Amino acid sequence: MEKDISKILITEKEIQEKVKEMGKIISLDYKGKEVLLICVLRGSIMFTADLMRHITVPVIVDTIAVSSYGDQTKSSGVVRLLKDLDEDITNKHVLIVEDIVDSGLTLKYLRKVLQQRRPASIKVCTLLNKQERRVHDASPDYYGFIIPDEFVVGYGLDYDEHYRQLPFIGILDSKIYKD
Ligand code: IMP
Repeated sequence: MEKDISKILITEKEIQEKVKEMGKIISLDYKGKEVLLICVLRGSIMFTADLMRHITVPVIVDTIAVSSYGDQTKSSGVVRLLKDLDEDITNKHVLIVEDIVDSGLTLKYLRKVLQQRRPASIKVCTLLNKQERRVHDASPDYYGFIIPDEFVVGYGLDYDEHYRQLPFIGILDSKIYKD
């Protein structure tokens, strides 16, 4: 599996240090409040699990699943809701936890759908920010790393449902998806 990675972009240690730092900042920002973390399946599983361990205010976790990918490396431009939340988010402090914000389409859709349910507040936290690819008006409130326009896998991110278990973020060798 690791032979399919052309370069390790962010090491396991770097991720863990960053996630800890993000957890501290979020804990300070939400002091005295309870935060409802929304893990966007499936890519954010690892990030959510690690992040919540570093949040010191009370936390509730829920999951949502959306799909925007037409083929395996390019967004289709249309977002579909695959699995809705279980919790009622009215008057709750919602923090959407994303693995990566790329074009911003998914984030724009999630914000719009969740805002209609009248939460007390809504913010977005992403580990990776592919800022140069942004075409939609959507920006995260918290991000871990700005990354270049490369297709990355690991730490929850997949290609065709594989590579999620890698503990680091790596650039997938283009021969894997261009053959
Ligand atoms: P957006 O809607 O274009 O911002 O894309 C967001 C979603 O696309 C993320 O939640 C990921 O599932 C997926 N995605 C975007 N870039 C990558 C990547 O480099 N590797 C794996 N998945 C990605």
